[in-house]
Amino acid sequence: MRINKTLLAVALAFGVGGSAHAADELKIGMVLPMSGPFAGYGQQILNGARLYISQHGDTVEGRKVTLIVKDDTGVAPELSKRAAQELIVKDKVNILGGFGLTPSAFAVGPLSAEAKVPMVVMNAATSSVTTKSPYIVRTSMALPQITAPIASWALKNGIKKVYTVVADYGPGHDAEKQFVKTFTEGGGEIVGEVRTPVKNPDFSPFLQKVKDTKPDAVFLFVPAGEQGVAFLKGYKERGLDAAGIKLISTGDLTDEDVLDAMGDPALGVMTSFHYSEAHDSPENKTYVQAYYKAYPDKRPNFMSVAGYDGMRLIYDVLKKTKGDASGDTFIAAAKGMKWESPRGPVTIDAETRDIDQNIYIRKVEKVNGKLQNVEFDVIPNFKDPGKQK
Ligand code: PHB
Repeated sequence: MRINKTLLAVALAFGVGGSAHAADELKIGMVLPMSGPFAGYGQQILNGARLYISQHGDTVEGRKVTLIVKDDTGVAPELSKRAAQELIVKDKVNILGGFGLTPSAFAVGPLSAEAKVPMVVMNAATSSVTTKSPYIVRTSMALPQITAPIASWALKNGIKKVYTVVADYGPGHDAEKQFVKTFTEGGGEIVGEVRTPVKNPDFSPFLQKVKDTKPDAVFLFVPAGEQGVAFLKGYKERGLDAAGIKLISTGDLTDEDVLDAMGDPALGVMTSFHYSEAHDSPENKTYVQAYYKAYPDKRPNFMSVAGYDGMRLIYDVLKKTKGDASGDTFIAAAKGMKWESPRGPVTIDAETRDIDQNIYIRKVEKVNGKLQNVEFDVIPNFKDPGKQK
């Protein structure tokens, strides 16, 4: 008995009788905003990731999966960097994950590159995030990818003059650039462009300026959450709506996490996006049901799905590599991977390591008494146009 036990220990130590990594834990270091104005991001991403683990077991290829969560508080790149450094050096994580905002992903990319640690980006959506390390793979979206479709929709729906309002940092710049490009190439006119502060913006002066300019529509990108709620409130209160100025946006604005807080003023807002709680597919119905069962007080949103899909990607890669999570092997296995997500079919682009996916045109409507982003058109398998030189 004793001999057998010793033999087993030796065998495991040398990786005999299983994959080379069977005895190791799989440590995933999650860098996320868990406090501050963007705390909802961390919560949603973790909800999705943990839901996947609870459904598929906490072991993959014999490796016990552990999530180690570090709070980077939102837009604080120094904190994100320090958190990732600790995760790599002290905790010796195998994989980095999370990343709520672009400055966080930008700060950690070089560490992933240097340490050759796979980095699964589950929200940060500036197009160039994926270029900051060859070991990055993204399961969320890219701003130009979710912006171009609403610009095309505007052109087809009689909107000729647009004022753009974007948050003054990476994703806002991407959204502005793509909107202006698609809209003007299609014959539309940009009558004003403004960039608003990322932290604690006061939208009043910008809203007044937009109103005075009398465009057909205002195009908005602000990071999902409280800012969108504040913008919509101001848009109504200052009478832009009553003046016939339409509000069009990426779906970050009408995110399910804040849709109830927006209330009926959100009705009719047009957006383009990759995920809606109301997406009509068997996979999404199952997802939404499981989500409410696990988290009765939250609505499933795009961040939760990116966390869920991020974990799915990790599990599928590990199955393919027989448990090997080392940077080069992990990324080679991730490239070209396809699956049916709650959002629809997705592919990890073999060239860019970004995610190719359907983008839907949606309108906020009431469905069974609840505000929902109802999808009524789709641009299938859409690659991020921001990657084109
Ligand atoms: C980002 O910082 O990259 C970001 C944050 C919130 C969003 C989209 C992008 O809704």
